[in-house]
Amino acid sequence: MAFTIKVNGHTHSVDVDGDTPLLWVLRDVLGMTGTKFGCGMALCGACTVHVDGIATRSCITPIESIGNSAITTIEAVGAMAAGVEIQKAWLDREVVQCGYCQSGQIMSASALLASNPHPTDSDIDDAMSGNICRCGTYLRIREAIKQAAQSSGQGG
Ligand code: FES
Ligand code: FES
Repeated sequence: MAFTIKVNGHTHSVDVDGDTPLLWVLRDVLGMTGTKFGCGMALCGACTVHVDGIATRSCITPIESIGNSAITTIEAVGAMAAGVEIQKAWLDREVVQCGYCQSGQIMSASALLASNPHPTDSDIDDAMSGNICRCGTYLRIREAIKQAAQSSGQGG
């Protein structure tokens, strides 16, 4: 069945079953492999994208549920003001280790900052708790989010 979806400001028509997870449409149909597969069960956060600005696990989001919503992936996070600050802070703080989880981490962090320019430690923990990092970069992630909030002139 054909679905029309909006990804990173572009409209795509894809011919897949309605229960196909958004993750596989992005990766296998559209060739956008920045969004990662980790667990396929909404347990790790590696597959996080934005759906109308909300951090969403694409591995459990069927394509038929998307409708007219705007999808943003890691490939276009740099087009968001919050995404620019998050990317810069990630580099400054040298957050990344193996990198596998980091697309999802950045998508969750940028959604947080876009909706909450003054996140407390508790806000950060709540927003990021579903993103697992096997390399244990959690402390640097928290510091980077704080830096990004301050750098954007919106932080505390
Ligand atoms: S792959 Fe989606 S949450 Fe793990
Ligand atoms: S940087 Fe390796 S899993 Fe997070």
